[in-house]
Amino acid sequence: MHITDVILKKRSGEKLSREEIDFFIKGYVSGDIPDYQASALLMAIWFKRMDSRETTDLTLSMVASGDTIDLSGIEGIKVDKHSTGGVADTTTLIAGPLVAACGGRVAKMSGRGLGHTGGTLDKLESIPGLSIEQSMESFQNIVNKHGLSVIGQTANLVPADKKLYALRDVTVTVDNMSLIAASVMSKKIASGADAIVLDVKTGSGAFMKKTEDAFELAGIMVEIGKLAGRNTVALVTDMNQPLGNAVGNALEVREAIEILKGGHAGDLKDAALALSAWMLRLSNLAGTEAEAMKMLNSVIENGAALKSFAGMIEAQGGNPAVTDDVSLLPSAGKIIEVKADKAGWVSEMDNTEIGIAAMLLGAGRQTKADVIDPAVGLWMKKRLGDAVSLGDVLAEFYVNDEKNLKESIDRFKAAVKIGSEKPEDLPLIYKVIE
Ligand code: URA
Ligand code: CA
Repeated sequence: MHITDVILKKRSGEKLSREEIDFFIKGYVSGDIPDYQASALLMAIWFKRMDSRETTDLTLSMVASGDTIDLSGIEGIKVDKHSTGGVADTTTLIAGPLVAACGGRVAKMSGRGLGHTGGTLDKLESIPGLSIEQSMESFQNIVNKHGLSVIGQTANLVPADKKLYALRDVTVTVDNMSLIAASVMSKKIASGADAIVLDVKTGSGAFMKKTEDAFELAGIMVEIGKLAGRNTVALVTDMNQPLGNAVGNALEVREAIEILKGGHAGDLKDAALALSAWMLRLSNLAGTEAEAMKMLNSVIENGAALKSFAGMIEAQGGNPAVTDDVSLLPSAGKIIEVKADKAGWVSEMDNTEIGIAAMLLGAGRQTKADVIDPAVGLWMKKRLGDAVSLGDVLAEFYVNDEKNLKESIDRFKAAVKIGSEKPEDLPLIYKVIE
């Protein structure tokens, strides 16, 4: 088999066989197929797309490129959640402790932020002392004891995705439905959970901007999960504005802790509760959504959810006192208020640009080599549909290095559009695919 034939076949719009997909993945991971030919094939896939059979084959080839994690040391149903990536999307740090406190078993391997999106590992590392690197034995022990552990992916978990994701990032081929589905599902299948709750984002801050595309992506991922024998549900949720108020690592941890203490009613809390309710249902711990919600609200009220989070933090070497006193988290040197220069309603947000504004302050990486400043970011003061007066604070900027501050503020202000009419309210959850 020759890779040039495979590229030509896809470029012509034909379907690739399982053997051809395997040949590509094996050859790319081993280094026999160079980046330039892999790039050409990715771009052909981007333009000509893959059908669901090809997408499933790609996922399974990617799973086979590395280790499959055995979580049999954890008692009970292991449940995982995964977001396709967003801004102020802190649901893992809320849903994980909530589900753990209700008796669930959350053994989660997370990723880092890339581009405008945040990553759970970067957020967790803003907690002083916490390590996201744990042996498989320690990972399973922590889940058995505290119901929850979140760690980085082991070196040999879907090596095909590590290589392909980095290549997609620099060849502008991230936003393809099949490539996203295979990337997410290969990691979920290889990391061993029995049940998977997917949070598929749609809107201006998501990789899938159009709701119909997000529905299709969610459908493909649920199908792949079921084929692999995993009980899978997908929620398609809104990403047309930051989900929470905080955009930045320590700030997002602070917001998650405040929600676990019962504060901050709003979309982030509602999304985390909806995802948690499905995690409990797939874990056979609740029969209905109403039952799940009752359990979740009670572990917020009685402090058990916060205690689960503190338990995980301590077990992973972090300072659990942050859950009592958020001022122990890293804090920025300066807080700058960014104000509205006209009155009206917040009518639209370019949420990718808001993510980039936070990244420019140092909350994310522009290149893989960049080092994150855990303390910096934005704290949003307005949401879509809010009335604004001239001079109202739109967001607080938490700043250390002012190198890119002006560009960050300019891009933020251009991203938050103030119109003369109140926009139509958007749903938070568009669809649930079972
Ligand atoms: N998250 C992933 O893990 N992979 C993608 O391709 C997109 C989002
Ligand atoms: Ca709304």
